[in-house]
Amino acid sequence: MTRPIRIAVTGPCGQIGYSLLFRIAAGDLFGPNQPVELRMLDRNSAEQNSKLKGVMMELSDCAFPLLAEMTACPDEKTLFQDAECVFLVGARPRGPGMDRADLLTANGEIFQKQGRALDEVASRDVRVCVVGNPCNTNAYIAMKNAPSLAPHSFSALMRLDQNRAMARVAEKLNVPVKTVEQVFVWGNHSNTMYPDLRFLRTGGRRVEESAFDQEWLEQFVPNVATRGGQIIKARGASSAASAASAAIDHMRDWILGAEGKITTMAVPSDGSYGIPEGLMFGFPCMCPGEGQYQIIKDLPMTPEVKQRLVVTRDELLAEVEAVKHLLP
Ligand code: NAD
Ligand code: LMR
Repeated sequence: MTRPIRIAVTGPCGQIGYSLLFRIAAGDLFGPNQPVELRMLDRNSAEQNSKLKGVMMELSDCAFPLLAEMTACPDEKTLFQDAECVFLVGARPRGPGMDRADLLTANGEIFQKQGRALDEVASRDVRVCVVGNPCNTNAYIAMKNAPSLAPHSFSALMRLDQNRAMARVAEKLNVPVKTVEQVFVWGNHSNTMYPDLRFLRTGGRRVEESAFDQEWLEQFVPNVATRGGQIIKARGASSAASAASAAIDHMRDWILGAEGKITTMAVPSDGSYGIPEGLMFGFPCMCPGEGQYQIIKDLPMTPEVKQRLVVTRDELLAEVEAVKHLLP
């Protein structure tokens, strides 16, 4: 029988965790022939311990054929021991009126501790996707605190922003979302992100800007960038099932390959497009499989797009400055 892949998830009692775990165990991440082992860690309190027990009772009751083993872990080191695939979800979400960066103080320390533990005990081939906000800078903190792991083991979730952009385009053009390609998002998972439509294709054909009316085009960028806030307003809680789904898309494409499609990942910059090396920045990437990705280089830039990248880069640099005390 195929060896189970060891997957670690933080925040299993939260909203995203509750969706993510069941999707992973059902086979949505690694397909119908790959067993998985789930390791979970939430905050150590009587309430969260009881919740996690309940989540595990439900996972068990699904009788998932692919769920080979599951463990509630007492600490980070047990959680990450030999972990191959890690979702760092556990962190506070923002509420109405807050920006994601307001969470830096509340959440930053979590990722310092987790980075250190990953450094010590994770598989040397681990792949980490940070979901907890502000996800780019939290991923940066974790990466910097794990100097013995390759920086390219770390990433942050911006696939949700790409999925949102694809969905808006599909709605506007009245085409199936599966036909929408080559939409991606630059920068920070924040209001400064830049969803780029310049290379859009549907059904394999280029779509020019003239296919959209001016009013829609003007609203497109803010609409995608503030979608998280719109959901908080409508639902009274931040996006959960869509975030879990995007996290699955991100990790699946990274590890198994994206079949030649462009996919957005926040990854440590290699200096491309004038983004300082190491900064955790949303780039268009190709994922050839086997846990590899390549940042797509040398895309043509206009003065407007360059300016957008400068704004979101500077915001990320300011976030990094604010968490200097959490970096080694
Ligand atoms: P939630 O409050 O429902 O759940 C968070 C869970 O994490 C809770 O069970 C909490 O006890 C646990 N937790 C907190 N600190 C922990 C720690 N140190 N170790 C382990 N577990 C810990 O929140 P949620 O809605 O699931 O969102 C989780 C995070 O994901 C938030 O920061 C949210 O802003 C972020 N998010 C990111 C994206 C994205 O696209 N990057 C999308 C949606 C949400
Ligand atoms: C999202 O984009 O839905 C998440 O980052 C949650 C939030 O705070 O917006």
